[in-house]
Amino acid sequence: MAQHDILIVGAGLAGLRAAFEGVTAGLDTAVVSKIHPLRSHSCAAQGGVNAAINPKDDWHDHAYDTVKGADYVGDQDSIDMMCAEAPQAVLDLDAMGCPFSREEDGTISQRAFGGQNFPRTAYAADRTGHAMLHTLWEQAIKYGVKIYDEYYLMKLTTDKDRASGAIVMDIKDGKLHQINAKAVCVATGGYGRLFASNTNAMTNTGDGIAHAMRAGAPAADLEFVQFHPTGLKSSGILISEGVRGEGAYLVDKNGQRFMQKYAPNKLELASRDVVSRSMTLEIMAGNGVDGAVFLDVRHLGRELILERLPQIRQLAIDFEGVDPIDEPIPVRPTCHYTMGGIRVNKLGQSIGLKGLFAAGEAACVSVHGANRLGANSLLETIVFGKITGKDMVDFVKNREGKERPASSPEDLAQVSRQIAEIKARPVNEGVKQAVIRKELTEALQVDCSVFRDAQRLDRAWKAIEKAKAHYARIVVDDKSDAFNTDVITALELGNLILLGEATVKAAIERTESRGAHARDDFPKRDDANWITHITSVVDPQSGEVVLGRDAVRTVDNPAYAPQERKY
Ligand code: FUM
Repeated sequence: MAQHDILIVGAGLAGLRAAFEGVTAGLDTAVVSKIHPLRSHSCAAQGGVNAAINPKDDWHDHAYDTVKGADYVGDQDSIDMMCAEAPQAVLDLDAMGCPFSREEDGTISQRAFGGQNFPRTAYAADRTGHAMLHTLWEQAIKYGVKIYDEYYLMKLTTDKDRASGAIVMDIKDGKLHQINAKAVCVATGGYGRLFASNTNAMTNTGDGIAHAMRAGAPAADLEFVQFHPTGLKSSGILISEGVRGEGAYLVDKNGQRFMQKYAPNKLELASRDVVSRSMTLEIMAGNGVDGAVFLDVRHLGRELILERLPQIRQLAIDFEGVDPIDEPIPVRPTCHYTMGGIRVNKLGQSIGLKGLFAAGEAACVSVHGANRLGANSLLETIVFGKITGKDMVDFVKNREGKERPASSPEDLAQVSRQIAEIKARPVNEGVKQAVIRKELTEALQVDCSVFRDAQRLDRAWKAIEKAKAHYARIVVDDKSDAFNTDVITALELGNLILLGEATVKAAIERTESRGAHARDDFPKRDDANWITHITSVVDPQSGEVVLGRDAVRTVDNPAYAPQERKY
């Protein structure tokens, strides 16, 4: 059995940033990832990272924009912390060598992003996540973080009331390994693959969140799912908000801009929930073409497009057959980000399981509340990766983490039985993962989407029940051990179904409209009853999701009092 001081599951920006803190504090730090770290989904983040680094900007304004963007259910202590720490977090990356775009005078370039009152989004052309991930990967190599790449998380283990490590599968030969650690961090990202049209990597199946829930750690805010306004029509591939930050227009089938009807001040740069709803209403009113409207950048000119938006131009050419220099790009709202995750305090500690930490999209430190502002996601990864990493170091050096928890061989045996059972089921006696996944993701795309109501959510719930029933009889064609992606995708589907169950249950429970959760049958925000997080835990007996509540953390700042949200 391998032993480490710190075990981090997930090798995207949050995981690698936390690992940097562990390894540079002299602790034995390991990272497990089901793919090579440089293929982590952080790499796909395009538009940038928010930070009040311009002397004319102020982190308090950033925090205000974030509290408002979150529709008043973000945790204000976390938001203040993130925005105050943002400039240093970006400068840390800069000092490590991250190639941010620059102005003539050498300062880091910043562009406008939605829902914010200052152009505070630092960027590396339209490949910001890529640049940041490579930078942190270099640091992981430099300082000797132990990397288990292409190892799949099978279970988060516990010793009484404390996290004790993980069971992982080496994908190349199917062998199971038990890893024991004094502190465990989940940084496996979100679960956008629950929806048929999304901007997410195939890998975004919420494995870490689901396993943390099974291990006894509550999740929260799962009803809040972000639809990014501008996914490519045919594939859902992301076309960055940075494009609108550079001045692009959203237009209907007649080439007319429409955002002045919905957000007269901020227009295309209103917050994402507002823009996605506006586009959906235009499409429903017949003002789109083939289920999409258009993003028009032609007036920005060839030179700017080639310099600042080279990747989105290539994506539009390759995946939509449209060169944005000459033609508008067909776009539609597409699932992009899951605001919910493992419920943690502002130091990244799970509220339910000692020794378990979470950071990045897998966590619900709730800086995003009901709606995330664009470019606050990269920021969350580097701020809370750093803070959580530091707190894990303190936990291991100075607190309960000084003692190593025990690992039980029964965990390994139980996971081994689980895999054997799936492989043993005859193919003609069950349902294949691809069939279950298609039905589930298409149902949620339609019925738990930009707009929701009781009837649609009831249909989504029936789709969850059907998926659960089919999953109990899941079969795989591939019975081998080496690179068995059939088994891995089946296991990923199990995680998606659990998170789908929690998402739909919480969406039914929240009888109001707030942020990305827009219910036609409850169109108003209900501050009297719903300034709260909905938590989700797994009942150990039944395996079902049980909902609860957790208070929104507030600070003493009158500017954060709920107001009508207009852009
Ligand atoms: O639109 C974008 O570039 C995405 C950024 C984000 O989700 O933060």
